[in-house]
Amino acid sequence: MRLLVCGGAGFIGSNFVRLRARDHGDEVVVLDKLTYAGRRENLADVEHEFVHGAIEDPDAVERAIEGCDAVVNFAAETHVDRSITEPDAFIRTHAQGTFVLLEAVRRRALRFVQVSTDEVYGSIESGSFTETSPLNPSSPYSATKAGADLLVAGYVHTYGLEACICRGSNNYGPRQYPEKLIPLMVLNALHGDPLPVYGDGMQVRNWLYVEDFGRGIGHVLEHGRPGEAYNVGGPDECPNIEVVQRIIELTGSSPDLIEHVTDRPGHDRRYSLSSDKLRELGWEAQVRFAEGLERTVDWYRSQQWWWEPIRSGAYREYYERQYGRALG
Ligand code: NAD
Ligand code: TYD
Repeated sequence: MRLLVCGGAGFIGSNFVRLRARDHGDEVVVLDKLTYAGRRENLADVEHEFVHGAIEDPDAVERAIEGCDAVVNFAAETHVDRSITEPDAFIRTHAQGTFVLLEAVRRRALRFVQVSTDEVYGSIESGSFTETSPLNPSSPYSATKAGADLLVAGYVHTYGLEACICRGSNNYGPRQYPEKLIPLMVLNALHGDPLPVYGDGMQVRNWLYVEDFGRGIGHVLEHGRPGEAYNVGGPDECPNIEVVQRIIELTGSSPDLIEHVTDRPGHDRRYSLSSDKLRELGWEAQVRFAEGLERTVDWYRSQQWWWEPIRSGAYREYYERQYGRALG
């Protein structure tokens, strides 16, 4: 099929493009605004057509969607900390952008998959969220992602759009921008920089290897029932401090690098997803956290060409603003 992948130059989108073009033989068109997180380098080794533009720009969407059979939307602002200091772009991309895409898809009656997150359910002390759990977002990031999910549901209900929603848990793996916990800690550990753990570090995340999420989204694209949401949760949960300790072991760095810093405002304590619904449809996570983390550390260790331009560029200013200290 000819597939439009919005946000395909980012971390998860580019992994998905690789999977679809290589293993499924899809013809892929990528529409991406190339924010700080979107990089053409992420797609250097995979055949695709590229349209540079924003999902909130109807002209760009028209150009990209021409001749496509289906649309998968990854395009988003994705970092909770940035949504706390500068929420504007989150609202534009998630609300206006999703609306423009839905209109284009509706006019052509195309199949649509909205990529969403476990964060729309909020925090859970014990047990796991199912697809019928109420949406209870707690940051500008998750609130705008929840808004986009509701807009998709509204279009399904009102216009009979053939759309599904995939809610993934925390992803990790190659090509993740180093503002997120795992790549930030890996690169800091490799450089001997401090490892900034928010609060007590006992917040729990449900880790999902990026290729498992990509396969889950592909599975929903092909087999999902229109109008349904599907959770895509990782096989393992882990408190942040333990993630950091494992990274210290894998990189051979010192535990003295750990620094407990001021907690994130409104920090969600624990995320956990039940993926039973997608499992019934035939998907299963294949990569356990221990194995995926080792692969991820190896990838960052050997791909300096990928992260060096980030660590020496505008990321330094972001880092200084966020952590109140310069990178080494
Ligand atoms: P990312 O930040 O690495 O990439 C986002 C991509 O979207 C970039 O290529 C960026 O240039 C592009 N983009 C941003 N705004 C755009 C716009 N207005 N128009 C067109 N392109 C735009 O993000 P990611 O981690 O790959 O996340 C992809 C999707 O998966 C997001 O929708 C996110 O909410 C969701 N998700 C992420 C995680 C995670 O752990 N990273 C977990 C579950 C769900
Ligand atoms: P993050 O990767 O930003 O993903 P999310 O907030 O979407 O779950 O953060 C994962 C966890 O790691 C979260 O509990 C916040 C914590 N964290 C730190 O302790 N230190 C850091 O420097 C970062 C970026 C995150």
